[in-house]
Amino acid sequence: MLLRASLVKEPPHFAPAADCVRIHASPMLDPAKNKLLTSVGRGTPMGDLLRRYWMPIAALSEFDSQSIKPVRLMGEDLTLYKDMSGTFGLVDRHCPHRCADMSYGFVEQCGLRCNYHGWLFDRDGRCLEQPYEDVAQPKAGFRDKIRIKAYPVESTGGLIWAYLGPQPAPLVPNWEPFTWKNGFVQIVFADVPCNWLQCQENSVDPLHFEWMHMNWSVRLKDKGGPYSPRHLKLAFEEFDYGIVYRRIREGMSEQDPMWKVGRVCLWPNALFTGDHFEWRVPIDDENTLSVTWCFSRVPKDREPYVQEQIPAWRGPVREADTGRLISSHVMNQDFVAWVGQGTIPDRTHEHLGTSDAGIIMMRQRFLKDIEAIARGEDPKATIRDPEVNRCISLPIADRKNLTEGQTLEEIAKHPLGGGQLSDYVFQAGQPREVREAYAKAMGLPE
Ligand code: FES
Ligand SMILES: [Fe+2]
Repeated sequence: MLLRASLVKEPPHFAPAADCVRIHASPMLDPAKNKLLTSVGRGTPMGDLLRRYWMPIAALSEFDSQSIKPVRLMGEDLTLYKDMSGTFGLVDRHCPHRCADMSYGFVEQCGLRCNYHGWLFDRDGRCLEQPYEDVAQPKAGFRDKIRIKAYPVESTGGLIWAYLGPQPAPLVPNWEPFTWKNGFVQIVFADVPCNWLQCQENSVDPLHFEWMHMNWSVRLKDKGGPYSPRHLKLAFEEFDYGIVYRRIREGMSEQDPMWKVGRVCLWPNALFTGDHFEWRVPIDDENTLSVTWCFSRVPKDREPYVQEQIPAWRGPVREADTGRLISSHVMNQDFVAWVGQGTIPDRTHEHLGTSDAGIIMMRQRFLKDIEAIARGEDPKATIRDPEVNRCISLPIADRKNLTEGQTLEEIAKHPLGGGQLSDYVFQAGQPREVREAYAKAMGLPE
């Protein structure tokens, strides 16, 4: 197993290093560390570490048809809204007057009003109006003493991001694909009933691709084979924004982009494969919001293409009739693994092998960063320099096709892109209107 820590500056250089260190598998986590890494509430070490990062919590386009949405994030119940001036706010789920549910409030030109007695709050949590108190005791200044819990929100890439940590907040990362042109983007959610950490450990587990996605899919189709080429070599390497993992499978050489460039376990809670991100956003200790941002480059003859609205949809996790987890699509297969590990896995029962070196690396980095924030330092992948954040480059194995485009025929022949033309392969339940919008963008026949 190859491990190497590196600090990569722009432009990134991701070639495998010669000075790699060979390691053996490490023992499992003890119960205290397991609890530490899986607890996300405010005041817990990992919860406070995760609060140092912006989390995607919704899609901009969800607010084309609604103005208020309840959100649960890292164990905190909140209300996300877009007021009549178009400003987003994220405030406590409960009103500081007598605890009414703010997600049933109504928006005003500025801010969100509680529907019980009409108190009005702005995005910073200030109380702007107390309709009766303002008349009964106009000079008392009661409302100046009232604040509702409020967190900053921003929009980037068609997503709405929330920051629950201490000020000054870092920047919302402007990942390179958010700047790409000529693509059809869709945002996909799923509510996954398990802790976030096992979901994120999957982001640095290349071996499961062979078994969970390739070979299991063969068997799900009632076929006995052929099975997919076996993994022969894996490598994991830390860089500024996560861990790069590389693979060599039967029939591949070290010139293959999957070895030379690899894929990314993106810090602190995402997978990045080149054409899509998957964030594992902790709802609480026992639930995770899966958020996918998926980019499909349109064929060259469809350029220039400008997407007017990024659609968002939520896919089911279980079969409606049997209650069993859906296994037909790539991420649903991942959900089977994550949920199957238990709501919060007992990691004292693990037996980690050499394929799990990336997972060990990730856990160690989290533990070190918990110590770093206790010392008053920024944790890994905190972005504060606007110049750096103009466009953050990441390792992308399929970069040329995604940035320069292909013809429809070339896309159809591509081992990863081709399947997308007939179905959204990552998650079950794509609504018909999203499929139709995709087909129209790609120039596919009706
Ligand atoms: S409970 Fe919200 S205004 Fe009274
Ligand atoms: Fe997977």
